[in-house]
Amino acid sequence: MVCQSPIIELHDLRFAWPKQDLLLDIAEFTVQPQQRVFLKGPSGSGKTTLLGLLGGVQLPQSGCIKLLGQDLSQLSASARDRFRVDHSGFIFQQFNLLPFLSVLDNVVLPCQFSKLRKQRASIRHGSIEAAAQALLQQLGLARQLHSKQAGELSIGQQQRVAAARALIGQPELVIADEPTSALDADSREAFLQLLFSECAAADASLLFVSHDQSLATLFDRSIDLSQLNRAMREQEV
Ligand SMILES: Nc1ncnc2c1ncn2[C@@H]1O[C@H](COP(=O)(O)OP(=O)(O)OP(=O)(O)O)[C@@H](O)[C@H]1O
Ligand SMILES: [Mg+2]
Repeated sequence: MVCQSPIIELHDLRFAWPKQDLLLDIAEFTVQPQQRVFLKGPSGSGKTTLLGLLGGVQLPQSGCIKLLGQDLSQLSASARDRFRVDHSGFIFQQFNLLPFLSVLDNVVLPCQFSKLRKQRASIRHGSIEAAAQALLQQLGLARQLHSKQAGELSIGQQQRVAAARALIGQPELVIADEPTSALDADSREAFLQLLFSECAAADASLLFVSHDQSLATLFDRSIDLSQLNRAMREQEV
């Protein structure tokens, strides 16, 4: 049997933004390969901050964050950036697409920064463009939209482009920060089902942040950051 490290392993993490009170104090948090985890918490509770720490954009003041067994604090800032693009795909609330680039160019972007993802996408599909087209098609974006500027698409379409960009080259972890808040309930669930099937096809774990409690039952695990975070629990006492 192959023994796989957890995708995310976090121990005794403490983080405060400069000149601010302690925001996060988390004893343990683990995400296993292929697990789908729902993360909720009140506005301002530090969900996006936690995702930034998992991406290695910020480092904690103390404690340890491991992604695929790699301690992020052991890497230089540029090595952390590389590690993030190699192994994780992010979907942001505002999608962060480059509006003047075509849909296809937006989707292949991670492969321009990560040799590993370029290699994986090319091996599977022949080229990164073919990989992007296949993903976009699976996510329901017709071929004639692929050459359009991303900024010309509807919100729901942009969201699918952002998902394809996160998934290309099969990162082990997909992180989504409230990507459904602009959609109505039906489109929200349909998008989530698409995301699930694409993550399953790529063997990726999914960490999905949302305020929408009704989505929680669709996941393997649901976590409330205000329960997990000792800094917040202490404020409540
Ligand atoms: N770049 C930053 N510099 C300084 N403080 C920040 C920064 N980003 C966030 N914060 C502060 O950290 C706290 C948590 O913010 P964060 O964005 O992580 O919350 P959130 O749980 O994602 O909220 P929401 O549900 O509204 O998206 C807030 O008090 C915020 O002001
Ligand atoms: Mg947030």
